[in-house]
Amino acid sequence: MFKYSAKYCFLVLIKNKMAEQIKEAFVGLQWGDEGKGKIVDERLVYAHSLNDNKRVVNIRTQGGDNAGHSVFIRTDQGLVKFVTHAAPVGLASNSDVAIGPSVAFNPISFVNEVKEAEDKFGYSGRILISERVGILFDYHRQLDAWKEGHNERKVGTTKKGIGPFYMDNANRTTRMTFSDYVSDRFEDRLRQILHEKRNELKAAGVTHGYDAWLIEQHKEAREKLKGHSERLEYRLNEYLRHGHHILIEGAQATNLDVDMGSMPDVTSSHILAGNAFSSLGLPRREFNVYGVEKLYPTRVGEGVLPTLARNGFGEEVARNGGEVGASTGRKRRVGYPDWLVVKRSAMLNEVDGIYIMRADVVQDFDILVSNGYIIDGQRLDEMPLDLSKVEPVYMNQTFRWHLWNGPSDISDPIKVDPALREFRDNYVKQGFMELPQDLRVYTYDHDRYVGCNTVGISIGPARGETVKCLNQKN
Ligand code: IMP
Ligand code: MG
Repeated sequence: MFKYSAKYCFLVLIKNKMAEQIKEAFVGLQWGDEGKGKIVDERLVYAHSLNDNKRVVNIRTQGGDNAGHSVFIRTDQGLVKFVTHAAPVGLASNSDVAIGPSVAFNPISFVNEVKEAEDKFGYSGRILISERVGILFDYHRQLDAWKEGHNERKVGTTKKGIGPFYMDNANRTTRMTFSDYVSDRFEDRLRQILHEKRNELKAAGVTHGYDAWLIEQHKEAREKLKGHSERLEYRLNEYLRHGHHILIEGAQATNLDVDMGSMPDVTSSHILAGNAFSSLGLPRREFNVYGVEKLYPTRVGEGVLPTLARNGFGEEVARNGGEVGASTGRKRRVGYPDWLVVKRSAMLNEVDGIYIMRADVVQDFDILVSNGYIIDGQRLDEMPLDLSKVEPVYMNQTFRWHLWNGPSDISDPIKVDPALREFRDNYVKQGFMELPQDLRVYTYDHDRYVGCNTVGISIGPARGETVKCLNQKN
């Protein structure tokens, strides 16, 4: 009898394990650069590790190559770095990759990234691109740069053409769909669009003969991408029904959302998780949404960072953490933790769990935490649209933890990896309860305030260097 039930339990266990389907979406909770790429990559690797003959698809849903998602992978030759801008990070794990209809799709960058992944990792996944997605052209970049150069009120954009692209999308007739891009209609459509935009382009200094140059510039990418145009909403629902694993990768972050971010210093896309599901045609109720939060917020470009640390903390964390934009090389401003911002983002995205990133970068610092604002002498527990008059309120308590004795300048992960690898691996092995007490207390207090559980704490840049919290099952 006992034998039978043990066997039965084992079979049920195996069956349940087999039936596990990863359905997750990831969004940034601050102003970008939280480390979404690292977490998405780890979860993709986990999905592959189930070894269940299911496919793993990784989808980009908004933004363009203004994003920069870095992955560091351990190999025999040490850490290898791989950065994607236009493509999902899934290239690094041989996952299928998909581009949703709300992306600002730069086909040239995308093709180059796929090529790099083929050379580096022998990438051979399936590539699915929504037939609806709009193409980001060189003229979008030129218009972006021209606008930033001429307007009095600057946004500090990445100059990747994102604003002008989404203006063309909303303008309807100036959107080159991917379906047109890979068809014989391409040249006619391009000339039509250039004609409609002629006055704008002339003002920005785009010269005669530009159409021929653009056609030539896109020849190779068009050729390579032929055959990848999909009615993506149907294909993704097939993935869902057939039990394949689906991981949705957000770019930028909640406070850069065109409607819900700190306007006007935001990007031009809809970033919140809800928008991802509506554009992909996938059901929110079946997914877990995870927020990715850098322990200290950073901001690049114009716009207020309420908890900006104008002291040693700001400077040293920026230096040690290598806080420089992956897409633009610009320095990022660093602030103290701002839980009010995170709480709002968790609410807006209906976040099911949070990953806290870069707990290692702030070791040995006294960490202040803001949990409210003062505006015109009044305490405010909500985030206002106008951040210019906001003074952060810091909790009396500060936090400080020590993880290991080792290099404190960790701005170059590849250089410090040999010295820190063992410490990091040990923390991952031992789990949350072996983390320094102050870091654990920080996490408990954070979760109570934000109203959401932290499920993982990243203590290193490489794949796998994330400590699981007690409430994370896998
Ligand atoms: P755009 O997206 O290039 O139009 O830039 C608009 C604003 O969003 C600027 O403040 C940029 O610095 C910021 N931004 C855009 N993409 C990213 C990103 O991936 N990380 C951080 N900031 C970003
Ligand atoms: Mg980035």
